[in-house]
Amino acid sequence: MPNRNRTTDVSCMLDRQRQRIHFNENERVIHTMKQFKRYLVTSALPYANGPVHIGHLAGVYIPSDIYTRYLRLRGADVISVCGSDEHGVPITIKARQEGVSPQDIVDKYHNIIKESFRRLGMSFDIYSRTTSPVHHKTASDFFRTLYEKGEFIEQTSEQYYDPEAKQFLADRYIVGTCPHCQNERAYGDQCEKCGSTLNPTDLINPKSAITGATPVLRETKHWFLPLDKHEAFLRKWILEEHKEWKSNVYGQCKSWLDLGLQPRAVSRDLDWGIPVPVEGAEGKVLYVWFDAPIGYISATKELTPDWEKYWKDEETKMVHFIGKDNIVFHCIVFPSMLQAHGGYILPENVPANEFLNLEGDKISTSRNWAVWLHEYLDEFPGKEDVLRYVLCANAPETKDNDFTWKDFQARNNNELVAILGNFVNRALVLTQKYYDGEVPAAGELTDYDRETIAEIPAIKKGLEDNIENYRFREALKVAMNLARLGNKYLADSEPWKLAKSDPERVKTILNVALQITANIAIVIEPFMPFTSEKLLKMLQIAKPGWDSIGSMELLPAGHKIGKPELLFEKIEDSVIEAQLEKLAATKRANLAAEAGKQVTPQKENISFDDFGKMDIRVVTIKAAEKIAKTKKLLKLTIDTGIDTRTIVSGIAEYYTPEELVGRQVLVLINLEPRELKGVLSQGMILMGQDATGKMVLLTPSDKVGSGTIVG
Ligand code: MF3
Ligand code: ZN
Repeated sequence: MPNRNRTTDVSCMLDRQRQRIHFNENERVIHTMKQFKRYLVTSALPYANGPVHIGHLAGVYIPSDIYTRYLRLRGADVISVCGSDEHGVPITIKARQEGVSPQDIVDKYHNIIKESFRRLGMSFDIYSRTTSPVHHKTASDFFRTLYEKGEFIEQTSEQYYDPEAKQFLADRYIVGTCPHCQNERAYGDQCEKCGSTLNPTDLINPKSAITGATPVLRETKHWFLPLDKHEAFLRKWILEEHKEWKSNVYGQCKSWLDLGLQPRAVSRDLDWGIPVPVEGAEGKVLYVWFDAPIGYISATKELTPDWEKYWKDEETKMVHFIGKDNIVFHCIVFPSMLQAHGGYILPENVPANEFLNLEGDKISTSRNWAVWLHEYLDEFPGKEDVLRYVLCANAPETKDNDFTWKDFQARNNNELVAILGNFVNRALVLTQKYYDGEVPAAGELTDYDRETIAEIPAIKKGLEDNIENYRFREALKVAMNLARLGNKYLADSEPWKLAKSDPERVKTILNVALQITANIAIVIEPFMPFTSEKLLKMLQIAKPGWDSIGSMELLPAGHKIGKPELLFEKIEDSVIEAQLEKLAATKRANLAAEAGKQVTPQKENISFDDFGKMDIRVVTIKAAEKIAKTKKLLKLTIDTGIDTRTIVSGIAEYYTPEELVGRQVLVLINLEPRELKGVLSQGMILMGQDATGKMVLLTPSDKVGSGTIVG
């Protein structure tokens, strides 16, 4: 069981002492940290309608895991909760597409997601799911409490209804044009392009996502949470008391509050979800965004009978890690629910990230434009930390960012291999070589040794400041600076040159280098836990705590270290090219699918006579060769049934000569002969061409005699 019950004096003291300065909206605010005894870290519950991709990781899960691991290393009382978000329209739409039940869908993806998180080293204390009985009861009770306290408005209103599918169209069941950014594929609850939250009736030109039908309005009763009632409280709590929140989060909250809050429906007419637990609510379920955040509470309950201290004690610091499309739900809706209920704490911070793009394009599940975590783990075994490193180094902390495979390769080769791996390897290999793996005792330190060692406390402080203020990219740079420092130390002191002349000095140098190596194992742990573990194993020591950073006694003299192994290996161009080709294939498939929907208008009518003039036959290709100095042209020798002749065709782009020989194709054999690149072409091969320009040969489905007439 992780350190739930440990005391937290270190981090507590740190919180108490630290005064931080924040700049927000051009205003300088001194924010004195409150005291906290324990931490509750939540990570957005991923929808179980598909696997997790690098966008989810960079936006939410990598930062939350770094933060949690850091707190654990400090000995803090911290728990990290997550789970699958298994209700709502995204699930039922996927089930409909695949022709299976919603339960089948969530079972499938919950397992894929849970397993891939585990393999990536995500250290949640619990990964639960919102179909769990504990959650159903918790969410149901929560709703009933609000209902009984009179915190809802009951209202009958007109909602869109699909007369063909015979159902109400909530949320993503309805698509149309966003009134704010004109995106034609906005959903009934949200526009993914501009991030605005919508009501189905806001959409211009609404259509049912199930049948494509134009919906009609029908009366139905729902329960609404009057957000307007909580507006004054929210203004004070966010705009005045949390000026230290990230400016993208603070800004989004401010613009919401400035626009004025409206009551929001918290129930839906759907048959998948948690039934609304009051009378007269048959066929109605809780809105997914009502039940999902309560999932954080349910998961904590499942984790520990002591759950209330994490949720109800003001000395708990709750931090929500989310993506930017979740800001309003975590900063406005869920806090209003918690306030309305009473007895619960509110988040201390909501460090939402922006979005990660992939090779210049928005990541999209439906267009399969993503790097899927489970596929990465299969294709790059042992390189979990490389992905963690690159996604943190590139995290979209203040603006959208781009993941490219070239950058992935460069960061691995130039940073992980060349800086971190190189330093550790040199220190360990030299120790093996000179002292048979025994840590040498340090003699008297030189000024240079002391200056080098004196840099470590600043690195520790830099890490603390950055991680505690959710600047994980910067923190990672600081951690890597320790490896840079080690490299510089070895390069400057050149122990390999002194081995003969000054063996005592060499002992000191390697002792210092080895202590730095052990320090590295601590500072990289939150970011690269597998590498940290591997390094500790090579050093043959147990994981030291955070406050050991700076110690030059992590490895006692005479301690025997293990066999050095490489921490990272170079990634070759061919590996990157294979990934780029995989994406290119996705792009081609998307273009072709898109083109399949486009139609070329019909040409002018022709007479029977005109048609009768064409002599089209099935021919057999006997030989094919490239025409010198051309890229696209092939010279084909064909058997037309009446003769053997030559045709020049521009299909080298799509087919190799080997693929063509023996194949039967359609040829217009009475087209005027013409000369191409000095070869007389007697006829034209008939091919299909789609809207992207891609060409395919048309071959009869059964083998027929050469010269078979087409018409
Ligand atoms: N499933 C949502 C999404 O992927 C996130 C839910 S977060 C929670 O956008 F708070 F509701 F749990
Ligand atoms: Zn929009």
